[in-house]
Amino acid sequence: MNAVPTVPDHPRDALDLEDALEESLGRFPAAELTRSVQTLIRQYREGFDRSVPALHSQVAVAAYAGYRMPATYSAVSAALRQVALLAPGFAPVTQVDVGGGTGSALWAASAVWPTLRTVTVLEQSPAAIAFGRRLAGRAPAAAVREARWQQAAVDRTPPSPAADLVTLSYVLGELSPDVQEDVVASLARDAGMLVVVEPGTPAGYARIAAARRRLAGLGLHLVAPCPHDGECPIRPDQDWCHFAVRLNRSALHRRIKDGTLSFEDEKFSYVAASARPWPRAESRILRHPLKRKGLVTLRLCTEGEGLADHAVSKRQGETYREARDVVWGDAWPPRVP
Ligand SMILES: C[S@@+](CC[C@H](N)C(=O)[O-])C[C@H]1O[C@@H](n2cnc3c(N)ncnc32)[C@H](O)[C@@H]1O
Repeated sequence: MNAVPTVPDHPRDALDLEDALEESLGRFPAAELTRSVQTLIRQYREGFDRSVPALHSQVAVAAYAGYRMPATYSAVSAALRQVALLAPGFAPVTQVDVGGGTGSALWAASAVWPTLRTVTVLEQSPAAIAFGRRLAGRAPAAAVREARWQQAAVDRTPPSPAADLVTLSYVLGELSPDVQEDVVASLARDAGMLVVVEPGTPAGYARIAAARRRLAGLGLHLVAPCPHDGECPIRPDQDWCHFAVRLNRSALHRRIKDGTLSFEDEKFSYVAASARPWPRAESRILRHPLKRKGLVTLRLCTEGEGLADHAVSKRQGETYREARDVVWGDAWPPRVP
């Protein structure tokens, strides 16, 4: 399992994702990129025509990478960090990223787990593969630079990769609804850890909730974000389980998106499941903590009480100090059990 890396991590010409994107997108005329981003934004708002793949051309892929990749990378990173906190002994060597697009989940996973050595991407779009492979060539981690990119449509014959880590990020919603749960079940079969990430919208959460039910039904251990394997206490007609990550918009991002704000908040829903039981969060913080003078109130998902508001006062000393530091999406208490 513990193969020796064939090339070193962090070569001198490696770039972080933002700089690698800036370099890769420089090959495309800015006006064309901006036009393609506008098309993507319209499709995200009005829905995609499933008969035409969104990532059909080089410029459509480049637009996706510039416009969405920083956000999906940040969301996947945030989800994986929560998994890593609960499973400190999890040291994946192999990863399969399904519907990998331009490779966000590879970049994210290798930053969280430098133990990764052998990474495979399954992706249906040749244009996304070409862009992602080229971009990955600039990554600091050898596992990303040397990733194997395979063209595959996973809804027709759902694979069951025997990998330590299997990721499915922002893909479920692109699969036809009648195969989504089967794809998730199939991906989980031989995975050490399966992490599924979706947009943090009611529809994205509904897909995660269905995946979660199926994974728990298969007897898998839900690692994060849930504090238990039982029924999700959130009523879908009233709320949805999601988290948010703030990311700075690069100059490039602002240019192609025509945006003015210097940051954006990416909302996401996720579930991580494993055949092996890992320690679990005692409860999960579901909203920005409400911080007033001498009092922090946390909206929690708990095992015993479902959804509960938990107040921590200054009189509680160390616990209060911890409550002041935690953020939406963290485990509560923040200590690893
Ligand atoms: C929204 S993008 C997400 C890309 C990447 N995982 C990320 O998080 O940025 C969805 C990706 O799933 C791919 N995809 C959709 N349906 C697929 C299928 N049936 N088999 C393989 N890939 C698929 C698309 O081509 C696209 O690259």
